[in-house]
Amino acid sequence: MEQTTSCVLFLAFVLLVFPSYGVAGPLTYSTYNVLNYGAKPDGNSDSTQAMVAAWTLACGSIKPATVYVPPGRFLLRNIVFRGQCKNNAIVFRIDGTLVAPSDYKVLGSIGNWLLYEHVNGVSVYGGILDGQGTGLWACKRSGKGCPSGATSLGFSNSKNIVIRGVKSLNSQLYHIVINGCNNVKVDGVRVSASGNSPNTDGIHVQSSSGVTILNSGIGTGDDCVSVGPGTNNLWIENVACGPGHGISIGSLGKEAEEPGVQNVTVKTVTFTGTQNGVRIKSWGRPSSGFARNILFQHAIMKDVENPIVIDQHYCPEEKNCPGLVSGVKISDVTYRDIHGTSATEVAVKFDCSPRYPCTDIKLEDVKLSYRNQPAEASCSNADGTASGFIQPSSCL
Ligand SMILES: *[C@@H]1O[C@H](CO)[C@@H](O)[C@H](O)[C@H]1NC(C)=O
Repeated sequence: MEQTTSCVLFLAFVLLVFPSYGVAGPLTYSTYNVLNYGAKPDGNSDSTQAMVAAWTLACGSIKPATVYVPPGRFLLRNIVFRGQCKNNAIVFRIDGTLVAPSDYKVLGSIGNWLLYEHVNGVSVYGGILDGQGTGLWACKRSGKGCPSGATSLGFSNSKNIVIRGVKSLNSQLYHIVINGCNNVKVDGVRVSASGNSPNTDGIHVQSSSGVTILNSGIGTGDDCVSVGPGTNNLWIENVACGPGHGISIGSLGKEAEEPGVQNVTVKTVTFTGTQNGVRIKSWGRPSSGFARNILFQHAIMKDVENPIVIDQHYCPEEKNCPGLVSGVKISDVTYRDIHGTSATEVAVKFDCSPRYPCTDIKLEDVKLSYRNQPAEASCSNADGTASGFIQPSSCL
């Protein structure tokens, strides 16, 4: 009894002297635990208001702030975490699972589930994002009047962002989208969705500069990483992809007026059973777009349908482009140390625009086989050089 009393007194003293005394000690930041604002870790109670309340306090804090989500399942409807905030150091520390509504119609037409907009200095550490997308995928496969779905985690018009150790499961649409951002680090992320889930790209980057994606594993039904117009200084390293459609620059050139893609490095990646390995893809229609200064280095292909591919004749459903040629100019693309197995005979395919041929394509040490034989290469409107060991032999 006496011990308890002195303990309580001591705690009262500490709280008096250090009002921000938290789990980690008397630090100079505030922690907002969503449980304190009414969140329930039961997977059924709607915790949206509690999350918004914690964010509003963190965003309004003049000192660095942490939003804490403890273990458990927290049901959340769509949330926009909107800046500007009063500080530039907000951490979301997530030990639990954030769960989207199981009825896909709730988010289906909203476009985003968890969206950060106009924020600076936000980090998301850990946690599982469960997008509950399977119902929408089934609807899309049966093909009748389905909503397009929501991206699970989006960052828009933001800067100085870290996404570390997050696991995204079964998004309705894209898993993670980085749009209009500057200086974003994605590290140790896991993405998992069925190999036949529609439009569930792992990480989509567009209109952004200085994005780095490291040490991540992505298995999904569409591109593992897709890179849209207006991306520059993108670095992707140590990523495992599969199932999925590979790492794709594009689709580019959908719009007539479009910014280009520049300075992309894709390094030390493994593709397992994917539809593509490293791909550049553009619509077959006029555009101001371009892709240049691209390096694909140290890639391992395991049973990949199209290990190396440039496709400038993308025209889904043959609508709005038949007979047109791509305006996207592709130049200065290097493939260095790419080896492994192709699941089809043609392992290297450069199918470029007749109006704007691909230029300065470089193959250096490429070895791809098909059924224990050298695979084949196919080129149209592609110009460049080959050096080192090259198999299949170059058609440039
Ligand atoms: C290319 O991008 C990398 C980051 O991915 C950056 O470090 C480098 O400075 C950029 N190069 C140029 C010429 O901008």
